[in-house]
Order: sequence, then C-alpha cells, then structure tokens
Amino acid sequence: MSNYHIKHLEEYFQVYRKSVRNPESFWEEVAEEHFVWRKRWDKVLSWDFNKPEIRWFEGAKLNITENCLDRHLPTKGDKTAIIFEPNDPKEEAQHITYKQLYERVCRMANVLTEQGISKGDRVCIYLPMIPELAVSVLACARIGAIHSVVFAGFSANALATRINDSECKMVITSDGSYRGAKTIDLKGIVDEALKSCPCVETVLVAKRINSEVKMQEGRDKWLQPLLDHAYQDCSAEVMDSEDPLFILYTSGSTGQPKGMVHTIGGYMVYTAYTFKNVFQYRDGDIYWCTADVGWITGHSYIVYGPLANGATTLMFEGIPTFPDSGRFWQVVEKHKVNQFYTAPTAIRALAKEGVEHVEACDLSSIKVLGTVGEPINEEAWHWYNETVGSKKSPIVDTWWQTETGGVMITPLPFVTPTKPTYATLPFPGIQPALMDEQGHEISGNQVEGRLCIKYPWPSIARTIWGNHQRYKDTYFSAFENMYFTGDGALRDEVGYYRITGRVDDVIIVSGHNLGTAPIEDAINEHPAVAESAIVGFPHDIKGNALYGYVTLKDVGESRDHNNLRKEINQLISDRIGPIAKLDKIQFTSGLPKTRSGKIMRRILRKIASKDTSNLGDTSTLLNPEVVQEIMDNAL
Ligand code: WT7
Repeated sequence: MSNYHIKHLEEYFQVYRKSVRNPESFWEEVAEEHFVWRKRWDKVLSWDFNKPEIRWFEGAKLNITENCLDRHLPTKGDKTAIIFEPNDPKEEAQHITYKQLYERVCRMANVLTEQGISKGDRVCIYLPMIPELAVSVLACARIGAIHSVVFAGFSANALATRINDSECKMVITSDGSYRGAKTIDLKGIVDEALKSCPCVETVLVAKRINSEVKMQEGRDKWLQPLLDHAYQDCSAEVMDSEDPLFILYTSGSTGQPKGMVHTIGGYMVYTAYTFKNVFQYRDGDIYWCTADVGWITGHSYIVYGPLANGATTLMFEGIPTFPDSGRFWQVVEKHKVNQFYTAPTAIRALAKEGVEHVEACDLSSIKVLGTVGEPINEEAWHWYNETVGSKKSPIVDTWWQTETGGVMITPLPFVTPTKPTYATLPFPGIQPALMDEQGHEISGNQVEGRLCIKYPWPSIARTIWGNHQRYKDTYFSAFENMYFTGDGALRDEVGYYRITGRVDDVIIVSGHNLGTAPIEDAINEHPAVAESAIVGFPHDIKGNALYGYVTLKDVGESRDHNNLRKEINQLISDRIGPIAKLDKIQFTSGLPKTRSGKIMRRILRKIASKDTSNLGDTSTLLNPEVVQEIMDNAL
C-alpha cells in the first residue's frame, strides 16, 4: 500500500516530492495498486495545455462501477455502502449494503438499457437526495451512458438549457421532493422544461412524495414497476479510460452554463485517492458530506470517492433547519458520524443559532471536520473548531472546483498542521503557481497572485461539452501553459495557501457558484429594464450576497419600485433558480462605464460593500457623475 495512505508530515513531503519529480510514475503506481482495470494503459499521460488536450491512462479499459461495487462484494457485501437519512427524522433511515446497492444499480442499468439508453447517450438526472439519485448515477456508469445531474433546486428554464445543451435522451426524476416542511413539485418542473426539449424521449419517475402527477403517455414511466421486473445482474460495459463519465454544469462569467466533461479513469483514481487521504478514512468509519449530489462535491465525495474505497457514505435528504437547527448534530449523533464535510455558509448559519443545539448532541464520534465551497472566515473557522470539533478534530479546508474534479489544496488531517482560513498545502500531484497580472510566476513566500496549476492531474475536466474553444479560452488562455482557476490566492511565509476569492465575474453565494451574466440576462428580460449589473457584497451568512444595479427604460414613468424588485426576483427565480435572487436592487439613471463601454464593476462592488473611501481611478469613466448618484442612493 505504498503511497496510498499518507500518515505523517514527513511522509507527505516525501510523497509530494515524488509526485512532482515524476508525476507519471507516481500516478501509475497509485492506479496500479488500488483499482481494477480490464486492460492496462499504454501510456500514463499525454498532454498539451495549448490545444488543450489531456489524456490519462490512455488505452486502459475499465468500468468505474466495478471499482465502486463488484470488487467489494467478496469482502464487504454486507457492509453498509449508503446510509439514507430522510428529510423527516420520523421516517426510518435506510442502510443499503454493498450487495444491495450492487443489485439496485444493476436493475436500474437494465431498465435504462431496456428504455433505449446505450453507451455514450446522455441521461439527465433531476432527483432529490434519495438513494435513487446515487443508483441512477452508477447505473449510467454501468452501461457507459453519460450522466448529467442537474441540482433539483434549479428552475424549469435552467433545467431545459442543460438538457438541450447536451441533448439528453432521458430524464430521471421523481414525483416531488421534500424540503423541510415543504414539498416541491419536481415532475411539474420537468414537464415545464420539456416543453422546449425535443431531444427527450423518455422520463422515468420515482415515487417519493406520492403526489398526483400528470404522466404523458408514451414518454413518462413510473420507475418502480420497471425496476421490479428488471434482472438484478448486469454485466459492466467495458469503457476506455478517456470515455466521458459525466457532464456537470457550472456557471461561467458569461452566457451559457459550461458543461464540464469528466472522463473515467483519471477521475476515479484521483477522487478515490483524495477521499482516502483528505478524510483519513479508515474501514468502519461513517462518513457524511452534506452537499447535494447535484454539485461536484456530491459526485466526487458522496458517490464515487467513498464507494471506490468501500466506505460508508451518508446521504441526507433534508435541510439543516428542519425540524430545527440542531438537525446536523442530531444526524451526527444518530449515525455516529466520523468525518463531517460541509460548507462555510452552513457553518455560519448554524453558529448564529447558538451553541445549545450543538451541546444537546453527542458529537464524540467526530474525528475530522471538512469545509468546501468558498473561503471560510476566521470566526466561522474557530466556531467550527471549538464548538463542533472540541478543538480535537482537525478542520480540512479543501479548495477545489467543478473543473478540478477533486480536492487540490488541503490539509491532511493529523498530518498537516492547520491554520485558520488557510487551505494550506497542495495535494500530491498538484503544482500550484501564483501569477502576476503581466503573466509572470511569482516565486517565493509571502506573496499574492492569481492561482494557476502548472501540470495536469488525473481528474482535470477534459473539455466543455460541445465547446472546446470556450474550454481553451476560459482556462488556458490567461496564462501561458497553465490552467487558470479564476481564483486569487496568497502564499504565507511557510508556503501555505489561502484562497482569497474569485478574480472574475463569478460570485459565490452560499457556496453556489453564480455567473453575473446569466443573472443580468434574466433581469434584462423585464420589459421595463434597460440595463443591469450584478456584483457581490459581503454577507454574514451567505459569504456573499447579490446586489443589482438596474436602469429603467422609461425614467419619466413612475413605477412602484418595490413591485419591480419583486418582478425582477421572480424572473431570476424562473430563469435560474431561487439561489440567484438579489438581496438588494438599486435603481439608477445609469451605470458607470469606461469609454469603451465596459461597466466598471470595481466601483459598483465598492459601493455595494460600503467601501467608498477610495474608489480608485474614475478618470477613464464616460459618465463620472453617475457614481455620485449611485453612492447617494446606495442601499
Ligand atoms: C470555486 C469553485 C469544489 C466544490 C464546491 C465548489 C471556491 C471552493 C474553496 C475553499 C476558498 C473555495 C473557489 C472555487 N472555493 N472551495 N476551500 N476556499 N474558496 O465548486 O461550484 O465549481 O466552485 O469555489 O472560488 O473557484 P464550484
């Protein structure tokens, strides 16, 4: 088991050095010793960041589900693979063993095949956090279909955009979903979306809330009866290492969401290897990541990474505040969770509720705490460390992205000494670089710059579905021969990294990655709106919240601004989803622009953050007078 499990700092440095000196042989060893392949690779890595083209384990054949399921059956068949904790604590939790999961995946895979899905077809999965979600993901992988999971909080419009972009033939959904005390009509949202999705032939509907839904003859089918008749074994499709495993959409700074494509071999190796080390997972541990499988965190660290290690992974259907704000801690106590992985926004929200909820529960099972999705502030870090972790459980502040597939910069618990708000050191195989705006690498410590990665790692996304040029432009054009992350970072005196936040027009709200352009597009659809600009501003709980500056077409016309605000937020909610709603909307007679017509967001950002002491250079503005007006009326 050389290298696979790093246990102390000395060993980390040793492994890291090796991974950088000879990445190919390093990754080859990991791939060789810890996974089952149908055929070995011909070449470990070929790459060219200029094209860009990256291939790992080329020529190798495998099926990722054999690594996540089949190979565990002889030794771990009766071990729990998934614990399902329902929205309502009164409903019984489910413990699904590896053998049961294997059978459920096989049945589902057979249903997919029977319904006309084969290798390479795209299947959209729009499900709540119920076992069928993990089962559907794995069933696609079993037969070589490409899954595209869309977070079930997205609107009909956002769903339709994603279905059409990758031309999904099928949608898997449920009648509805539970969200705390509420239910959501998922099937209704799908029906609405499919009005504009001619590519979809079949909709499979799981029953979750037993609501009455309309079933469209010929297109919609109840899932359960099909599963009941399906055979419980299904041979795995033999796939190429570089065949796509899934598409997952992420917001960009402009226009359409980007369908990031991840391929099988490298993704499997990297997510499994990081899972083991980032959480120091030991056999018998109960691991819980509170993310939704609709995000990359759920793909990599609820489904694939844990299952590839034969771990027990908990899937939670509910929300942190139902039935009360103690729910997370109650679930930890109930299932004796050993590794707990959540987002800073959740930590801040729960910290606000006081310590009583935490103290009411026995959290002694916790060994490791994790955080992901946005920079964690000092206060939240200490609260997490002291109140939840009793200063005994190291916090792994894991920095990574949808595009990176797995964790990139992180402490290893009990290995790397932690430092509040620092993601600390690169994972083996990851070669970060800080760049200045002129495109030079900044060497040495105690420096700050734009965060890039110099060398490929196995789980880097290979392209944007249907738009390789955009992939190149977004990630490989800002700095020569480097992957550009879009984040800024600083490196302290010992070489620890701290992520300072996005340097582009992406805003992270409650850990959700939101592009400004799609939100502005939605606002501009309002008949009264001439133009708009969105910026982020600091928010106690969400990290950032959205501030919109809106100019109206007919300034003379008096309109009820509060009504307009409601209409604008409704539009955003319809087009994107409630997560993208604006906290503040300021109506203004104009937006500050450069002479070339570019909106000066820097100024708008400062005003929204109430940081107007130094607005920087406004001399290049076409309309400097508008800045004063915006400042006078700032919300
Ligand atoms: C962006 C990626 C990775 C899964 C969830 C988000 C921010 C992520 C951290 C962290 C500071 C972080 C970055 C990154 N981010 N983790 N530990 N510290 N910032 O995936 O939606 O693709 O967002 O999230 O800005 O670029 P994503």
